[in-house]
Amino acid sequence: MSPLVIKFFMSKSFKTFLKHTAKDFHNQSVNPPVVRASTIIFKSMKHIRKTQAKAQKNPTGGYYDYGRQGTSTTHILQKILTKLEESYHVFTTPTGFGAVFLSIFSIVRPGDEIIVADPVYSPTRLLTQDYLKDFNIKTVFYDPHDLKSLEKNITKKTKLIFVENPGSNSFEFQDLGKIISIAKRNKVLTAIDNTWATPYYFKPIKFGFDMSIVSATKYYSGHSDVMGGSLAVNKKVFNKVKAAERITGLRLGPDDAYLITRGLRTLDVRLDRHRENAKKVAAFLSKNKKFKLLYPYKKDSYNFRMWKKYYSGASGLMGLKIKSKNINSVRKFVNSLKLFGYGYSWGGFESLALHQEFRETGNRKYLNLSKDEHLVRLHIGLEDPNDLIADIKQALRHLK
Ligand SMILES: Cc1ncc(COP(=O)(O)O)c(C=O)c1O
Repeated sequence: MSPLVIKFFMSKSFKTFLKHTAKDFHNQSVNPPVVRASTIIFKSMKHIRKTQAKAQKNPTGGYYDYGRQGTSTTHILQKILTKLEESYHVFTTPTGFGAVFLSIFSIVRPGDEIIVADPVYSPTRLLTQDYLKDFNIKTVFYDPHDLKSLEKNITKKTKLIFVENPGSNSFEFQDLGKIISIAKRNKVLTAIDNTWATPYYFKPIKFGFDMSIVSATKYYSGHSDVMGGSLAVNKKVFNKVKAAERITGLRLGPDDAYLITRGLRTLDVRLDRHRENAKKVAAFLSKNKKFKLLYPYKKDSYNFRMWKKYYSGASGLMGLKIKSKNINSVRKFVNSLKLFGYGYSWGGFESLALHQEFRETGNRKYLNLSKDEHLVRLHIGLEDPNDLIADIKQALRHLK
């Protein structure tokens, strides 16, 4: 890409940067074009060699000789995300799970060990617990609320600590500062799945993590119509991830990159509103004695303290831990919601609900869920929060 075509405005405030960046003055378009290419065409062989030499010298500079490496459209997204993450570089992948895979594949090799937070997203658990075993890579899971279970399992073979915060579906908040100290003391690399907060509310690379994953499918794109992932890295791991990215071919296509870039223009506005709506819904839910609210709202909990210590805000995803001997009443409660759609994923503009009937929490070691306890996940969207509260109120009549 020619840096003359697209102008980036490096304003101090990220909110302003998001609105003004990546304008295409060459085509007089306020948004950058979608550049689709398998063959990147050059004027001469000399031009190819010159570009390759530039790419060698400046591997994050947006110099490509083949479409699998990206085009200006993916480069623009990477530049925006690198600024948002305050990282050395951001790799973009076709799905969020692709970014999870890339982070692990970049670091661990046969014979190595990896330590993973017990409540990780269930496909991350499957990958580490089952799939890596076939490659002679051992996984140990640690209790998110007892970091002694993390440190005591570090051996000479441990190469990576993989964190997800908060925990998928169970929403445990961990002491991230302690995790970084343990990792540094033991010279182990760290990765975190930061999809719930995004770097708008917590910046893992600046904080000390080596890698940070966000499923761009969620809040980045924000409209439930695209899949993508991002993997932010510091300089220390850049070359390893770059090599793994090349060998796996895990790269985002230009159409999806464009949609995610478009979504990012309003990331701050949407997340601010998700946070406000979720806070209002949480205030209503926290008064109900039939369940425990899994969201950083009540000030007296460990989870709240850990959230407050490290995060500048909260997104729209929350859970309910319902104690009931009557599973059918739980099902009826969830099925009676009228404004909440039923479906996987989250982070779009709309509210969603899921009753987690075993599949999503897998065989966790530290979940401590009795057979009369049920998890329900709610994504609080951008609707009028009073309508959402009224909807939950009418559905709750069925909960026994
Ligand atoms: C916390 C978390 N990480 C990663 C992913 C995977 O993202 P994707 O669906 O874009 O592959 C998800 C998807 O639900 C998720 O919830």
